[in-house]
Amino acid sequence: MVRLAVILRDTEIQGIAAAIQNMLLAAHASGLGGLWIADVYYAWEQIEAALQKHCPHPLVAAIALGYPAESPRRPPRDYAGVTVRLTELG
Ligand SMILES: Cc1cc2nc3c(=O)[nH]c(=O)nc-3n(C[C@H](O)[C@H](O)[C@H](O)COP(=O)(O)O)c2cc1C
Repeated sequence: MVRLAVILRDTEIQGIAAAIQNMLLAAHASGLGGLWIADVYYAWEQIEAALQKHCPHPLVAAIALGYPAESPRRPPRDYAGVTVRLTELG
């Protein structure tokens, strides 16, 4: 039973993460800038106050959206040393 609860919780969090990613992609496609914020725990009370609502469910993340004031160049990514190895399961 505990294992099932963990699986359900993890599945829900994966779904939330996928939804956030899709929202950020949609925002970007619409010309908006977006920021994924996982550190919502520190500001739980302020977020509830801003929403003027008690949040009955755990707050997992937030997204900040806005029109970018600038268009900075994409920072260089260092992929050196990153190896993906596919292994056969079974
Ligand atoms: C799961 C996840 C959680 C994040 N949480 C935070 C956060 O709490 N605070 C923050 O400043 N950035 C957070 N970030 C990073 C920003 O959303 C963003 O990706 C980062 O600032 C790099 O942005 P850029 O690629 O546009 O420069 C998080 C990113 C991910 C993927």
